[in-house]
Amino acid sequence: MQFRDEIPTPALLLDLDAFESNITTMAAHLRARNKGFRPHGKTHKCPEVARALMRAGAVGICAARLSEAEVFADHGIGGLLVTTAVVGKNKIGRLVALASRAPDTMFCVDDERNVREINAAAAARQGGEPIRLAVDLYFGRTGVAPGSPALALVRLIDSLEHVTFAGLQSYDGEAAHTTPFDARGTRTRNSIARAIDTRRLIEQDGIACPMVTGGSTGTYRFDSEIDGMTELQPGSFVFMDLDYERIGGPAGPEYHDFKNALTVVTTVVSTPPGFAIVDGGYKAFSTDRPFTPRPIGLGAVTYGWAGDEHGRLSLEHSPRELKVGDRIEFIPPHCDPTVNLYDNIHALRGERVEAVWPIAARGKSQ
Ligand SMILES: Cc1ncc(COP(=O)(O)O)c(C=O)c1O
Repeated sequence: MQFRDEIPTPALLLDLDAFESNITTMAAHLRARNKGFRPHGKTHKCPEVARALMRAGAVGICAARLSEAEVFADHGIGGLLVTTAVVGKNKIGRLVALASRAPDTMFCVDDERNVREINAAAAARQGGEPIRLAVDLYFGRTGVAPGSPALALVRLIDSLEHVTFAGLQSYDGEAAHTTPFDARGTRTRNSIARAIDTRRLIEQDGIACPMVTGGSTGTYRFDSEIDGMTELQPGSFVFMDLDYERIGGPAGPEYHDFKNALTVVTTVVSTPPGFAIVDGGYKAFSTDRPFTPRPIGLGAVTYGWAGDEHGRLSLEHSPRELKVGDRIEFIPPHCDPTVNLYDNIHALRGERVEAVWPIAARGKSQ
């Protein structure tokens, strides 16, 4: 049996009590509102986390990339939705292979030529169910504009033999981090209203639209109240991070709907005057945010980057002396890209390592 203090650093730790509480909170919220739960796997890239979500009632798991979805399928996770377009000959060939072995997998599309290429590749395999395509709607990044442009793409899918229309994806990434809370509500309601209008157009055209999927950790409270939204695909809530804490909640400037379950543990490896140097730098934490990891239990002590392998704690305001060998845990700035840096998650029950979960889709960014 291994204990927290014995794990070689830097390492990724998961507090199982907080993690399970986060899953229970989200699953119960959605169940009470009759919404499906297809959480996003891009956050964790970990089949064991996906299994925990499925046990809590998830209908499937989203994947940001084809290669992530392939890993989830290899581990027996069903109900996959690939939320970004799969473009190019090689990947479309793999898409068809994945759809053949996991026929309930859905793939997002937003481009006519891409749809035709997928249809042609599916035709060439001879046999098998039509491939399930979801039309991604545009809210500032990818997607086809809601309304008649989306309807035109849906009509094309409906007219082709080897693909079938599975529904709409309405994901507004900007909405997820809009502050304050009320403005976030306004933004996501407006975006989803456009998706629901598009659904109406499609159905008036005689084409069934069984799914409207989208939403995030930041917007789930609003999205889950909207009629016509069939399911939500939040990701970060399983772990949480500093980025999400800062978006604000109904009660103030910090968002605390979910607990910080994910930390990175480091070791103090040097103590030059006034500082403690830890063994976690750019390769231990995400670096895509303007703020740095937050040390736990060190009051106002701040972390500064000190290179690929090192971070610097300035001890001016430290409540205690730090020595070489001391272990310091941090809440990461942004969970998704931090997880992608590690091979494993150490799942802890208190001080005990209950399991070590491979992050099997780590680095699967194709
Ligand atoms: C398409 C899509 N859906 C859902 C999510 C989940 O969002 P969050 O981690 O903010 O809950 C993301 C995150 O980037 C996403 O890209």
